[in-house]
Amino acid sequence: MKNYIKHDPWLIIEEGFNPEYNQISESLCSIGNGRMGQRANFEEQYSGETLQGSYVAGVYYPDKTRVGWWKNGYPEYFAKVLNAPNWIGIDIQIDGESLDLGTCKVKDFRRVLNMKEGYLERSFHARLVSGKEVKVSSKRFCSIVDDEVGAIRYSITPLNFEGTINVTPYVDGDVVNQDSNYDEKFWEEVDKLIKRRSGYVTVETKKTGFHVCTGMKFEIFKNGEIADYNTYRYQRNKYVGCGADISCKDNDEIVIYKYAAVISSLNHEKEGLLEACRKVTRKAYKKGFDTLSNEQANAWGQKWEEADITIEGDVAAQQGIRFCIFQMYQTYTGEDERLNIGPKGFTGEKYGGSTYWDTEAYCFPFYLATADQKVGRQLLIYRHNQLQKAIENAAKLGFKDGAALYPMVTMNGEECHNEWEITFEEIHRNGAIAYAIYDYVRYTGDKSYLGEYGLEVLIAISRFWAQRVHYSTRKGQYVMHGVTGPNEYENNVNNNWYTNLMAQWCLKYTMEVIDYVEKTDPDKYLALEEKIKFYRMTETKEWKKIADNMYLPYDKELDVFVQHDGFLDKDWTKTIEDLTPENRPINQKWSWDRILRSVYIKQADTLQGLYFFEENYDEKTIKRNFNFYEPRTVHESSLSPCVHVVLAAKLGKEEKAYEMYLRTARLDLDDYNNDTEDGCHTTSMAGTWMAFVKGFGGMRVYDDMVQFSPFLPAGWKGYAFKVRWRGYYLKVKASRKGTTIVNHSDEEIRLKVFGKEYDIKGNDELAVAMVPK
Ligand code: BGC
Repeated sequence: MKNYIKHDPWLIIEEGFNPEYNQISESLCSIGNGRMGQRANFEEQYSGETLQGSYVAGVYYPDKTRVGWWKNGYPEYFAKVLNAPNWIGIDIQIDGESLDLGTCKVKDFRRVLNMKEGYLERSFHARLVSGKEVKVSSKRFCSIVDDEVGAIRYSITPLNFEGTINVTPYVDGDVVNQDSNYDEKFWEEVDKLIKRRSGYVTVETKKTGFHVCTGMKFEIFKNGEIADYNTYRYQRNKYVGCGADISCKDNDEIVIYKYAAVISSLNHEKEGLLEACRKVTRKAYKKGFDTLSNEQANAWGQKWEEADITIEGDVAAQQGIRFCIFQMYQTYTGEDERLNIGPKGFTGEKYGGSTYWDTEAYCFPFYLATADQKVGRQLLIYRHNQLQKAIENAAKLGFKDGAALYPMVTMNGEECHNEWEITFEEIHRNGAIAYAIYDYVRYTGDKSYLGEYGLEVLIAISRFWAQRVHYSTRKGQYVMHGVTGPNEYENNVNNNWYTNLMAQWCLKYTMEVIDYVEKTDPDKYLALEEKIKFYRMTETKEWKKIADNMYLPYDKELDVFVQHDGFLDKDWTKTIEDLTPENRPINQKWSWDRILRSVYIKQADTLQGLYFFEENYDEKTIKRNFNFYEPRTVHESSLSPCVHVVLAAKLGKEEKAYEMYLRTARLDLDDYNNDTEDGCHTTSMAGTWMAFVKGFGGMRVYDDMVQFSPFLPAGWKGYAFKVRWRGYYLKVKASRKGTTIVNHSDEEIRLKVFGKEYDIKGNDELAVAMVPK
């Protein structure tokens, strides 16, 4: 765990230059706008350790799979969102000497991510080897108003010399992915254009044929006036740069404004790409940096108005939750139905920017409650659009008759993951995709989704479960062998309680939905039956038999659900108390077999099931299972603590809930898992939001009614959050005095607070005393 980021409610501040932390800060201070994003790399050259990264959503490359031992059903490739052309670059030469923080003496270094207004700022004082000193400050952002635009203001002031500063703004498409399987470059040049004060490079991804045109237009000022300069034009493969010599003396301020446009064939015709890029760059240039900046600040202001969470009395927690909300909206805005949420967003290469079950299990509630209803629906339709591929994925593994296995990792619906214990066995992901449909309908009340899209997905998933289980004559029940539950620290287990539960629930839910759609829209139902050749009688008869006789491991003596058949044969007397700090994280310290044999659980597994279906279990059952599994969980997946917060809060374990909350909210800011340099854990940030709103806020939706039962962690004076629900817009405020719910809508709402029903008129509020848990 590190603790170098200064606590501040709106800013992520790194002070002092520590090259060892550079890559962590590059991840933390990443900026993005849902369409593109980038790590907080330096504009000028840097010879130290860095992970250069700019990404364009949806633009990927199928990198040929590399495995030691090929297994049937492995994917041919892993789809990666690519490191894309660098538009931030500005080389600085001072009388022929490079400005490079890797070789300079650096003072007063600050890198700040301003979450309130959505920009990245940096300033420092550098002494070059020659003894020349300069002061630099820069500000840049990816516009959320025009999501193809980026802008930079870069200022450099000589402090102790008179000479020439050569400034070279450039666009460089000759970039690599650190995780390229065969050290291959993924881009080829299509064309480029260079003018006096602008330059454009169009590149194409190999194999997938995406075109991306990246353009820049710039202007240089000296002491507030347009500087007098000529430009040299440099070009080489995939690169254009314009150099300018500016003569200067002590305290002359040179400011470079660089406007960039990133245009892709995802949204434009390939033929007109360069022209489109020139148009966008010109438009940005005409608006100017200050206008673009103001627009950016206003647009973020609007987002915060709608989705902010405020905490009084705990700056670390406040900074943590805002960081999560900020990163979520930098990654996915819901504007484009083809896009999804990669586990690292635009902050790094790991996980390839692809879609995981993280979206449905962790990100979905965040978008349901903070964005327009269409965003949730769109996330579901994304999977519906990929249904045929999911059926093909299942067919590759020998399943038939329209059974679907959604991929563990994907860009276009095809499975990309290639570790057998995950690809073939971590099949619980199918359950999360079905659960999101249920969650959407429960939250929004939009049942039309079921007939239009949902049922088709549910039937295909149920068909999979029905073929994946088998009947054990010995047990007289249906069992499921050879699976990996969410706890990836155990593979190839039999009867993972969570997976069996999800399968059983999916079958039951699908049958309910069949009845509903048939009743409410028989024509649609019949058309679907016909389309997918659904033999309702035979298939549902089988499903019912399975659902009614599904084996769910349970231990009478301990009175807990058993994570899987062999779990209690482990030395379960051990808990994390037995793990000394040198042993942690176990995934970096232990051999894999030792991890597999140990009782330590990577992330919520049985507890994930209790979280999803808590209404089906009494509090005592949840408590017994929580008390058994939580002390054995090492939380080495960032997705783990959030589920524990929700359950701990429900059980009145306030300290535990708070401890887990801080861990999830500040996971990257404090680099808990020692891996933030690879990128931030973006999908788990939505989990942090969920931990807050469902955990501390006690928000639930049951029986078409929204309910809250807030509690206030010790040491907090109060907090407030906002949610949208079925056209209502509600603010929940909790303080030591009590809870206030403000109904910001015109319509009256009926809701529950601490289990009691109330009506709140439109634009009115309700105050209720705090009820101790
Ligand atoms: C977790 C998975 C998750 C993946 C991507 C893994 O470490 O165990 O549950 O889907 O990371 O976030």
